[in-house]
Amino acid sequence: MSAPAAERDSAGVFSPGRARIAVRTLRSDRWWLPPLLTVLGLSAFVVYATVRSFVRTAYWVDDYHYLTPFYSPCLSDSCVPGSSHFGTPFPELPMWIPLGFVVLPFLLGFRLTCYYYRKAYYRSFWLSPPACAVAEPHGRYTGETRLPLILQNAHRYFFYVALVVTLINTYDAIYAFHGADGGFGFGLGNVILVINVILLWAYTVSCHSCRHATGGRLKHFSAHPVRYWMWTQVTRLNTRHMLFAWITLGTLVLTDFYIMLVASNTISDLRFVG
Ligand code: FES
Repeated sequence: MSAPAAERDSAGVFSPGRARIAVRTLRSDRWWLPPLLTVLGLSAFVVYATVRSFVRTAYWVDDYHYLTPFYSPCLSDSCVPGSSHFGTPFPELPMWIPLGFVVLPFLLGFRLTCYYYRKAYYRSFWLSPPACAVAEPHGRYTGETRLPLILQNAHRYFFYVALVVTLINTYDAIYAFHGADGGFGFGLGNVILVINVILLWAYTVSCHSCRHATGGRLKHFSAHPVRYWMWTQVTRLNTRHMLFAWITLGTLVLTDFYIMLVASNTISDLRFVG
C-alpha cells in the first residue's frame, strides 16, 4: 500500500538531502528487462509446479521406480502402489491436498526465504526497488524488521529441513536404478534424476545459511581447520547460488516432465541397461 502523498513526498528518494530528480530514473538502458524475465520465469515455475502437484497423475513409473520430486516422499494411502518408499502413515487424502504435502510447504518456505529469491521477488514483484538507480513506488521502507517479512529470518530452519528433503531425493535417485525385470537397470530417466539431485545438493549446500553453519561464529579459523575447509568449499559454491537457484527450477521441471511422459506412456524410457 502506498503511503499518503504528504508522507511520500518526504520519504524514500524524496527525503531531504536526496538529489531532486523529477523523473523516476535517469537510466536509459533496458533496466526493466531483468525484473520482467524474473517475473516470467518464477511465475511459469509456480504455475507448473502447482498444477503438477495437484493433478495426481503420471508421477510414478513402476517398471523403473522413477518418482517425480514433486511427490516425494509420498506418505499416504492415496499414493499409487510402489511410490511410497517410506510407508504410508497418512490415510487417503482429499484431492485438494497435494500428495507431497509433508515437504512442499518447507520447500516453498526454503525458496521463498532464500537470500537470492528475496532479491529477485523484492525487485521484480514488489519493485523495491526494481533496479539500481530506479526509484521504487513505495513511500516507506521498513526492511525485514516487522511482520510478515521478519519471518524471513526463519530461513536457517528451512535450510535444515531442505537438507533432509535433498537426502530423500538422493534416496529416490538411487532407488530408481531398477530394471523392468526386477534387477539393476538404468536409463535416461536415471541420468536426469541423478543430475537433478546433484544440482539440488549444489543449490542447498551453497545456501548462505549453510555458509554460516559451517564457518560462522568462529573467532579463529586456524583452531578449526575442518570447519574452515568446509566453509571455503561452501563459499566457492555460494558465489554461484543464483545460478543454482535458477538451474534447479529448470531441472525440477525437466525431471518431473520426463517422468510424466514415461509414466503416461507418451514416450518410452531410453534404456541403457535392464
Ligand atoms: Fe538461497 Fe539459503 S537457499 S540463501
